[in-house]
Amino acid sequence: MARTISFHLQKGGVGKTTISGTLACQSALDGYRTLLVDVDPQGNASSWFLNEAPTFELADVVQGKCFIQDAIVSVAQVPNLFVLPTFGIGGTLKLYSETKLAEEPYVLQDLIKEVSENYDRIILDLSPGLGRLERAALISSDEVITPMTPEVFSLDGLEIFIDELNKLRKNLRSPVRHTKIIINSFDNRIRQHRDIYSAACEGVFTVYKIPVDPLFRKAQEAGCAPQLFKVRGKGLKESTVDAIQTLNKEIWR
Ligand SMILES: Nc1ncnc2c1ncn2[C@@H]1O[C@H](COP(=O)(O)OP(=O)(O)O)[C@@H](O)[C@H]1O
Ligand SMILES: [Mg+2]
Repeated sequence: MARTISFHLQKGGVGKTTISGTLACQSALDGYRTLLVDVDPQGNASSWFLNEAPTFELADVVQGKCFIQDAIVSVAQVPNLFVLPTFGIGGTLKLYSETKLAEEPYVLQDLIKEVSENYDRIILDLSPGLGRLERAALISSDEVITPMTPEVFSLDGLEIFIDELNKLRKNLRSPVRHTKIIINSFDNRIRQHRDIYSAACEGVFTVYKIPVDPLFRKAQEAGCAPQLFKVRGKGLKESTVDAIQTLNKEIWR
C-alpha cells in the first residue's frame, strides 16, 4: 500500500508544485514507484513533466469517463515516475469541483485506494485555496506538509490553514497528519528569512528549509526534472541537493 502525502498551504506561489514535483522525481530516482497526482485545475505539474496532453486526465476519471489506470502516464525522462495529469482543458476539473464534487467528497480518496497497491508512494499537488477540491485531496492523504515562503504573511496563512484543517479532521473524520513545514526559497543571507525560520521553529512543527535556487524555474520551463537539468554544465546548488535528499528521507521514514 502506497503512502500518500500532499503539500499544501492555501496561498499560491509558495512552492507546492515545485516541491511536490521535485520530491516525486527524487523518490522515483531512488527507485520507488511514485505517482504524482495533479489535483490543480491549472495543471502546472502535468505541463512540467509531460510534453503533450494525454488522452485522459483526472477530470475524466472522477467523472467516470475512463478507468484511473487509463489516465496515468509514465514520465519518459524519470524511470518509476507516473503522473495522473490535469491539463485544464475546458476547465473540466474546476467545473466538476464546483458542482458534482459536493455530492461525492470521498471520490479522490476512493481513486487513490484503488491504485494504492501499484505504487510505493503517492504525492498530490494541490491548487491554492481551501475549497472542495483541496479538501477532497487532503482527506485522501495520510499526511499533509506545508510549504511556505519566508514572509510574515505565510505565518498568518499557516494559522488559518491549521484552523481549517482541524475543522476538516472533525467534519470529514479525517486523520490526516500535519507535523512538518518547509520554508521554501530560503536565503540565509536575508535576516527576515532567518527570523521567520526561527519563529517557525518555536511552534510544534518540524521545520525544513529549501534554498532559493533559480534552477527550479529553469528546469520547469525546460520540462525537466530539476535533478537531471543543467545550464552550461551546472545543476542545482549543492545545498539544494542536500536539502531535497534530507527532506525526501525524512518524509517517507
Ligand atoms: N526554492 C526555490 N527557489 C527559486 N524559485 C523557486 C523555488 N521554489 C519555487 N520557485 C519558483 O516560484 C514560483 C512558484 O512556485 P510554485 O511551485 O509554482 O508555487 P505554488 O505551486 O505553490 O503556486 C515558480 O516560478 C517556481 O519556479
Ligand atoms: Mg502549483
